Amino acid sequence: MSTTVSTVHAAISAAVRAPSPFNTQPWLFAAHPDRVDLWLDRSRVMTVTDPDAHEARVGCGAALHTLRLALAVSGHRTEVHVLPDRTRPDLLATVLLDGKYRPTPHERALSEAVWRRHTNRRPFLDRPVPSPAKTALMRAATVEGAQLHLMDQPAEVGAVADLVRRADHVLSQDSAHVDEVHAWIGRQGRSDGVPVAASGRPSTPDTLIVLRELGSPAPAVPFERLPLLGVLTTVGDTHSDHLAAGQALQAVLLQACAAGLAVSPLSQPIEVPATRDALSAHVGAAAHLVLRIGYGHSGTTTPRRPVSEVVLD
Ligand SMILES: Cc1cc2nc3c(=O)[nH]c(=O)nc-3n(C[C@H](O)[C@H](O)[C@H](O)COP(=O)(O)O)c2cc1C
Repeated sequence: MSTTVSTVHAAISAAVRAPSPFNTQPWLFAAHPDRVDLWLDRSRVMTVTDPDAHEARVGCGAALHTLRLALAVSGHRTEVHVLPDRTRPDLLATVLLDGKYRPTPHERALSEAVWRRHTNRRPFLDRPVPSPAKTALMRAATVEGAQLHLMDQPAEVGAVADLVRRADHVLSQDSAHVDEVHAWIGRQGRSDGVPVAASGRPSTPDTLIVLRELGSPAPAVPFERLPLLGVLTTVGDTHSDHLAAGQALQAVLLQACAAGLAVSPLSQPIEVPATRDALSAHVGAAAHLVLRIGYGHSGTTTPRRPVSEVVLD
């Protein structure tokens, strides 16, 4: 294997650490000596829960961000072409290797966070996130062409919590959605889906934010009284915006991880058209995900498929 090909494979092994809906890992990569192509893997899109592959594209955007970061840290300048071929809409991006690059200490710190970052579905501490940390999270999203709207006041957190609760209720009544989710949770010894060990703790009924029911067998515990919430948005709502939101998502998550913050994404309001519209109207832009952010005891990383399973021949 040439140096560049092994570098590309190492970058792909970092890219697959990106978050994806229910750890479906809906991506495929084609590695070439001078470029990497990122494809949407249609066979891994949750067709009931995510009929337009919106959330899958957000996950692929997160993988794209991680791939760029890993290549940068291994000394490669990259040039990214998003959706480069209109006749092949599932070719999401082409990343050209474009000469040498000297990574910054901040990029190195973020690339180390790739391996520690995980979704934390446990209760957070009742400890406020300081302003400089919030500013850094918002900046991370802006650099990637998205916005992170942060909320920590009871009325605005309550309004978003209400939309999460409404959406969660609608989804819980949809048997096709419930069946589809069950196929991806409670897994043991698998390299995809959400394992029981990562399913967090059920919350007591007085908890403000309704987390997804992921089959945790643990007893319910009280959660933090008032979490910091973030709504990730873009101005438009095209496929390219979904990829920008995903790149911003991973930039925010890595920045949070490097700053010692825990995050759990909440996508119930995105999966119900009426609540997504209401959430988007509330923040004045197309909403892609809600993030619950705070300080917490770290949880566990979830497995990924090996690179050999996600690289096309
Ligand atoms: C678009 C998107 C939506 C997600 N929605 C939720 C959610 O509603 N609830 C949740 O607990 N996790 C959610 N997640 C987190 C994934 O379940 C998680 O990334 C995946 O299981 C891999 O685990 P990791 O983030 O710990 O690596 C979402 C992730 C993405 C990218």
